Amino acid sequence: MAGRILVAYATKHGSTAGVAEAVARELEEAGFEAGAAPLPAADSLEGYDGVVLGAPLYMGTPLDLAAFVARHRAALVRVPVAAFAMGLTPAAPEPKPEQVEQARKALIDALSPIRPVAAILLAGAIDRAKMSLAERAVTRLLRAPSGDFRDWNAIGAWARTLVPLFRGGAGTN
Ligand SMILES: Cc1cc2nc3c(=O)[nH]c(=O)nc-3n(C[C@H](O)[C@H](O)[C@H](O)COP(=O)(O)O)c2cc1C
Repeated sequence: MAGRILVAYATKHGSTAGVAEAVARELEEAGFEAGAAPLPAADSLEGYDGVVLGAPLYMGTPLDLAAFVARHRAALVRVPVAAFAMGLTPAAPEPKPEQVEQARKALIDALSPIRPVAAILLAGAIDRAKMSLAERAVTRLLRAPSGDFRDWNAIGAWARTLVPLFRGGAGTN
């Protein structure tokens, strides 16, 4: 067994949960003992050899991530940490590189002082039926595209790049 990995995620409308589960499945296939759990349930990071953190962007900020990192900083500095943010920025018909970079930077900033071994922005999903009136107004204003843009091949491919990083215990903080 290659080690125990926790994939901890924040979500408001559920799309990040599916991605976290897919990442955990991919790591399991590579021989890790891996599982996905929502951030509030991940109250102890004891006994893990690596952690993947995932959060959707809301108004430019990864949901709940900075507070989680502050609370678990002592445990997170001891293991390799990888992170993904979900957002609609990369799902735009013509994604603007500077906006994608800004979103990725928001992820890195939320993780500080933890330096991730990998960090990626992944295309998310939006279901207008699940949104509040305020959220509908915001997404209309942002001209956010509507639909499920999660790219399961890209998600699986990213998860596989984590395998050697977690095997080697690379880049602990
Ligand atoms: C009110 C609102 C604000 C959002 N703000 C951003 C944003 O700033 N940047 C971005 O890339 N995506 C943004 N999104 C898109 C979400 O990050 C995306 O839909 C994500 O997949 C939602 O994850 P969840 O279903 O796990 O809550 C926003 C969506 C909503 C509804």
